[in-house]
Amino acid sequence: MKACFIGLGYIGLPTSIISAKNGIEVLGVDINPKVVELTNRGELHIVEDGLDTLLKEVVANGAFRASTEPEESDAYFIVVPTPFKGDHEPDISYVEAATRSVIPFLKEGDLYVIESTSPIGTTELMSKLIFSERPELEGKIYIAYCPERVLPGNIIQELEENDRVIGGLDEASTDKAIEFYRQFVKGELHRTNSKTAEMCKLTENSSRDVQIAFANELSIICEKAGINVWELIRLANRHPRVNILQPGCGVGGHCIAVDPYFITADYPMEAKIIASARQINNYKSFWCHEKVENAMLRFELREGRKPTVAMMGLAFKPNIDDLRESPAKSITLKLLQSCPDANILVSEPNVSEFNGLDLVSYKEAYERADIIVFLTAHKEFVELAQEKQIELESKVVLDFCGVLKNKK
Ligand SMILES: NC(=O)c1ccc[n+]([C@@H]2O[C@H](COP(=O)([O-])OP(=O)(O)OC[C@H]3O[C@@H](n4cnc5c(N)ncnc54)[C@H](O)[C@@H]3O)[C@@H](O)[C@H]2O)c1
Repeated sequence: MKACFIGLGYIGLPTSIISAKNGIEVLGVDINPKVVELTNRGELHIVEDGLDTLLKEVVANGAFRASTEPEESDAYFIVVPTPFKGDHEPDISYVEAATRSVIPFLKEGDLYVIESTSPIGTTELMSKLIFSERPELEGKIYIAYCPERVLPGNIIQELEENDRVIGGLDEASTDKAIEFYRQFVKGELHRTNSKTAEMCKLTENSSRDVQIAFANELSIICEKAGINVWELIRLANRHPRVNILQPGCGVGGHCIAVDPYFITADYPMEAKIIASARQINNYKSFWCHEKVENAMLRFELREGRKPTVAMMGLAFKPNIDDLRESPAKSITLKLLQSCPDANILVSEPNVSEFNGLDLVSYKEAYERADIIVFLTAHKEFVELAQEKQIELESKVVLDFCGVLKNKK
């Protein structure tokens, strides 16, 4: 069987590679020629442990190649971005463009699957688009939605081991999609309809967003009440039925910070908790920015000079290079903007370039700074915190992500 994956990003590329590793002939398509060129050379354009070896293997044995154009295949997978527009409305124009690009190649018996996180009804909408262009295919192709729920950094294992939810437009489509994923997924494949599968993905990420908002709200209350939030959560979680997540400097990434809006945009009157969680998590970043500015002012008043500030981490979560919707990135940019004359050092061990700024190594940033702001709990920062006698070194430390929480 030949499969064509449209979109070779954080999800499409690993899924293409795993499919190719499992005996499927795969064509990966991306509109970005650089991505295609690198992929065909066996070079990864994303950071994902262990994936480079697999990519080299499947490119070398001819199971996988990339192109800027789709080709006739037996199955097509849409794995392109689904960002939001101006007022947090879902932008499905990439899904539509990707679908349009495969329509000319579709033939009887083919499978078309959307993996991109999508608002409820997108699969139905795309089927209408397909059949308006190719009415002769109505009832003759299989159409399904199958959301992805892997954790970047652990993608290879999770692609094979996680359960998948598969929702066809009809029973035959669900069967056909299950047949495909069965080739490499060892987890359970759960059948449903396309709307439930679409909502399932949005629900998973909204649930995470709401739970993180609870932790972030606690962190703000605790700061005012003079309570260590990390200790509080550790203690509360000793209750056998309580499991509070960890606070941070906001919520980022392409999923949790985006997907809840796909529900609130379509159901504004009903989605009250989901909308509040979004607001709380966004507010947490503003709150952190204000805390840094206040610490800088206090330092200047006390020491009679401007402090050097180290902003530690730009990625939206530990040990990855993904800066999309990252609160750490937005707090740093806001600070650079609001304090243009300040001495601000930016350190991100997983990225070599950011906004034309000279990034500083985390050790140098730590040594040179008067105020250390931990925004992302990268392993390097946790190790640094363990090594250093931070509390004895007369540095001001703002730990928004729990780098110091396990310090012995
Ligand atoms: N990254 C994650 O952790 C994650 C997890 C689960 C679900 N998702 C969802 O999966 C989808 C893809 O996310 P991603 O992180 O892989 O995105 P990404 O931005 O990393 O990659 C998308 C790729 O699609 C390409 N592209 C855009 N339009 C195209 C077109 N018309 N034809 C061919 N290629 C095109 C882009 O050039 C890019 O390389 C999104 O809907 C996202 O919400 C992502």
